[in-house]
Amino acid sequence: MTSAYHSFLGLFFLSLHFFHSPSTSDDYIVYLGRNDIQDPILTSNYHLQLLSSVFPSQEDARESMLYSYKHSFSGFSAKINSTQAANLASMERVISVFKSQILLLHTTRSWDFMGLNLEPTANQATPLQLTHGDGTIVGLFDTGIWPESKSFREEPRMHPIPRTWRGECVHGENFNPKKACNLKLIGARYYLKGYEQAYGPLNTGETSEYRSPRDANGHGTHTASTAVGSTVKMASFFGFGQGTARGGAPRARLAVYKVCWEEGKCSEADILAAFDEAIHDGVNVISASFGSPPPLFPLYNSSSDIGSFHAMQKGISVIFSAGNSGPDPSVVENVAPWSTCVGASSIDRNFPTRILLDNSLSFKGESFNTKHIEANLVGARSYFRGGICRMNRWRNNSAVGTVILCFSTQGQVQIEDAEVAAWIANATGLIFVDSPNRQYVDVDIIPTIRIDMIQGTKMSHYLSQSMTTPPKVHIFPSKTAIKGSPAPVVADFSSRGPSSISPDILKPDISAPGISILAAWPPGISPTSTEIDQRSVEWNFESGTSMSCPHVSGVVALLKSLHPNWSPAAIRSALMTTAYNRDTNHDTILAGGSNEESSPFDIGAGHLNPIKAMDPGLVYDMKADDYILFLCNNGYTKDQIKRIISLPPGTPIICPKEFKTNTNLNYPSITVSSLESTVTIKRTVRNVGAKKTAIYFARILSPHGVEITVWPRILFFSYFIDEISYYVTLKPQKVSQGRYDYGEIVWSDGIHTVRSPLVVCVNTVTLTVITDDSSQAPDQPLDLAGA
Ligand SMILES: *[C@@H]1O[C@H](CO)[C@@H](O)[C@H](O)[C@H]1NC(C)=O
Ligand SMILES: *[C@@H]1O[C@H](CO)[C@@H](O)[C@H](O)[C@H]1NC(C)=O
Ligand SMILES: *[C@@H]1O[C@H](CO)[C@@H](O)[C@H](O)[C@H]1NC(C)=O
Ligand SMILES: *[C@@H]1O[C@H](CO)[C@@H](O)[C@H](O)[C@H]1NC(C)=O
Repeated sequence: MTSAYHSFLGLFFLSLHFFHSPSTSDDYIVYLGRNDIQDPILTSNYHLQLLSSVFPSQEDARESMLYSYKHSFSGFSAKINSTQAANLASMERVISVFKSQILLLHTTRSWDFMGLNLEPTANQATPLQLTHGDGTIVGLFDTGIWPESKSFREEPRMHPIPRTWRGECVHGENFNPKKACNLKLIGARYYLKGYEQAYGPLNTGETSEYRSPRDANGHGTHTASTAVGSTVKMASFFGFGQGTARGGAPRARLAVYKVCWEEGKCSEADILAAFDEAIHDGVNVISASFGSPPPLFPLYNSSSDIGSFHAMQKGISVIFSAGNSGPDPSVVENVAPWSTCVGASSIDRNFPTRILLDNSLSFKGESFNTKHIEANLVGARSYFRGGICRMNRWRNNSAVGTVILCFSTQGQVQIEDAEVAAWIANATGLIFVDSPNRQYVDVDIIPTIRIDMIQGTKMSHYLSQSMTTPPKVHIFPSKTAIKGSPAPVVADFSSRGPSSISPDILKPDISAPGISILAAWPPGISPTSTEIDQRSVEWNFESGTSMSCPHVSGVVALLKSLHPNWSPAAIRSALMTTAYNRDTNHDTILAGGSNEESSPFDIGAGHLNPIKAMDPGLVYDMKADDYILFLCNNGYTKDQIKRIISLPPGTPIICPKEFKTNTNLNYPSITVSSLESTVTIKRTVRNVGAKKTAIYFARILSPHGVEITVWPRILFFSYFIDEISYYVTLKPQKVSQGRYDYGEIVWSDGIHTVRSPLVVCVNTVTLTVITDDSSQAPDQPLDLAGA
């Protein structure tokens, strides 16, 4: 992720951190579980008292305290050394003590070369033709908000702020709550102590960061307008993507919790403080587009997972982004079963750009090019040693008047590197040849046209034949086209399952638009977030699971206003069982980065389908107890489980004696990560359709090599029976050493289609291990699957 204020000079600001005197104290989170003292003042006095016991004086303790978490659960964060941490951890009332870590925003490919980072973008996704969401409050944990953006104006005839709201719009640098907040933006807070603890004091003089809820980055403004932005006509980025901008729930209320600061860094101590207050303030949905790439923290050591557990207990849905580390398997983030994890996919829009060589050869690329460019086309070798389009390969010669042809394959160059290199050389433009998996458009620092390998190769051959004069190239302004290619396609960068913490729970849960999304942008921050870019825009394109997450959050806000009593699990079930798996050509949705059909590890249950999610027919529900059982079965000890949940004092945690897999958690997807012999899995569905009497039939698509039996095959719902359990028996029918196969179970009453993906890894081969001493005799066979 990137920031406006990190230009080339940003590098020097960064290096200042190295001069920080090494301190032996760190920011720790001390978690005490349930808040039994209902009075917040008494609670924080108690926290201070606890902390004082490891300091010479109460004054020292007060100084080291960052936050007292006193509303929705009890705990605090403080700057302490490891001895103090250990002392606190040994106290009876203290449930856990863990270091606060830094999480990162989930935007795509950063321009990390020399600290020159660019933000990609987002464009208005398929407009969600639903006007509700009034009465629902969405809490956005991000980089803050640009309140003057048209997206945060009041919609006509908005009702007063819901009476349940207890939040605040706080004062701060360049942020006057009287002007900033209204019936749309009803809350704004910021959390800075953890960030400053990690990186030193925020110097608002050297950078454009604000000590207030104001957004100095753009990311928070963009995600907020995607989730709940009001309707704004004629939004576009220099004419591209022109149309009406609106969030998923344009009448929902917005409460901003600024927890991410420069370079998109977000401290866990700050995040937990935001959870504590947002839950108490009365938000209905929390949208958070950040995380930390693998290795994932254990659920009991992660403020996102602890905070979201408490939110779930209060009926608040928490939506996270899956991360941008795809397309490799097993890198998905934010995998707790009580929150929703969102992958990213493309939408039905392209920005075709025509290129003409010597008035004879025509090519088609993708760009946001606004001008008609006429120049010489020159190969990368003329400017960069080895033809590698990187700044440190530059031959120091001027490329004025030329368009440079660069291949990603020459030196594994990313488009951002090539753009910086071409910019340094003063090139007129850049034609960048890359795998078709990465043909989506970003906002560029110089005119840049992306073309595929086949066209690029043809262009390169033509170039090498024109020995004497370089060919003339014409590049025409890009157009906005819809329905030009099948959509959605899963983004190559979208982080894939299986979950590295609990492979028996399918993650991501769902996919939503996250490529070239147009949404609101602070005019003071250039669209590429670099200083060399002088443009000012109200709307900007961004890509990332950061952008897909708020699409789901907006739809959840609509669902909450329609079904205020549904649990977060029921709402997620509605999203998942109605998600679709076919693209606009009626083919299976493709997985970007592979040219293959997507699997549930790419796309979860499928692509978000807002209209269908309103009326799912059946839901798979879950309660806190189900998640506690999940934690037991995931191998966590009772002490570790206590670090996540909060029970009334004296309530024991009862884990079953026998360690089991988590396949019986009533999740809307079914995943068996190691099927060694026949197993039977239970699921329970509740009828939430308009008709109390309904008959549902099962349709099964068996994964390859697995025999699936569902019993009963017909579910009869009536006035007296609204909840029914069914059983799925999986019998391995092949010899396999652990490869995944996919199927589905679909329940239908003729009106509703309730689909669950079925993910099974048959593991029926026991491996014979040969010991490495010279005797060839096989030792005893080991059961690999059990290892
Ligand atoms: C930790 O801080 C306490 C209190 O200030 C001090 O007594 C102790 O020596 C410190 N321990 C270490 C390892 O720095
Ligand atoms: C969890 O946090 C505690 C306290 O910071 C630490 O000692 C422990 O190593 C962490 N566990 C893991 C697996 O990260
Ligand atoms: C380009 O100029 C820099 C600074 O003057 C110099 O260090 C570098 O060697 C030059 N590179 C080439 C390829 O001439
Ligand atoms: C690029 O253009 C800038 C501004 O006109 C100029 O200062 C610089 O010397 C140029 N660099 C090259 C390599 O031509």
